Amino acid sequence: MNSQVPAGDSLLEMAWVNGEFVAPAAAKVSALDRGFIFGDAVYEVVPAYGGNLFLLQSHLQRLARSLEITRIRNPYSDEQWGDLLQGLVDRCGNHDQSVYLQVTRGVAPRDHAFPDVEPTVFCLSRPLAETSDQQLDQGLVAITTADIRWDYCHAKTTSLIANVMLRQQAVDAGADEALLLRDGLLTEGSASNAFVVVRGELLTPTAGEQLLHGITRERILQLARQQNIPVAERSVSEQQLRRADEICISSSTKGILPVTRLDDVAVGEGTPGPVWHAIWQAYQAEIAQLRKGAAG
Ligand code: PDD
Repeated sequence: MNSQVPAGDSLLEMAWVNGEFVAPAAAKVSALDRGFIFGDAVYEVVPAYGGNLFLLQSHLQRLARSLEITRIRNPYSDEQWGDLLQGLVDRCGNHDQSVYLQVTRGVAPRDHAFPDVEPTVFCLSRPLAETSDQQLDQGLVAITTADIRWDYCHAKTTSLIANVMLRQQAVDAGADEALLLRDGLLTEGSASNAFVVVRGELLTPTAGEQLLHGITRERILQLARQQNIPVAERSVSEQQLRRADEICISSSTKGILPVTRLDDVAVGEGTPGPVWHAIWQAYQAEIAQLRKGAAG
């Protein structure tokens, strides 16, 4: 791997394309890349706190699974991925980062069937956006909308036009997130997993092919169990969603956040609820440990 940017310089943002560290604005791939032409690519987003990648092994396992489903060759071993991503994080500094990685099927003349070419690898680290006090104190606003996506939502592919359109629908309605309904059941958010609290039990839709098996979702279920909060993975009906005492969403970039209004109706008391708060605190404590690890 060549490095055009000296490792000693700490920068806020840095990209890596096919073996070269470059400034994000200088990162280039061919217009014939199948990621660009077909959205023929998979990706991951891994947060780093205080220079430490959070739940990296789980992200690499899911990456391997997405590559297997789409039959794109995994260009690196887990160890190589770890070195590459940690190298990127180290070059950027100790601030909290959002590390994006993408593997495309590669560059080839446009033809739908798979070509026999090398995958393209693109990585980018950027500062992680902070959650605002308002989001924590007042919660998020969500709308419900029909889940118009395909049947491989468990593969983390870059073919996200449906998700992009659904998120914009939320934004156009003055909301933060769209919660998706398929056949009368909740699947997930446009870029997050979803949870409801019904009579003290934390419920999230079963991890099948109609939703992404979120790394944060998995961690939240573990943290809830550790705190003796009853949890279950099972179908969540539209009615349960609308009558829930609490609704939360989760993602690697946002952690766990409360939703306090759904389709212009207050969720429960209309304020962030106690189950969300208990899990959020446990999640924040983990992040604080990671940051301390960096300082020590
Ligand atoms: N997206 N579901 C969808 C459709 C998502 O896009 C995401 C995250 C999640 C949460 O997964 P995780 O906890 O592993 O981040 C669920 C990332 C953050 C993104 O596209 O930027």
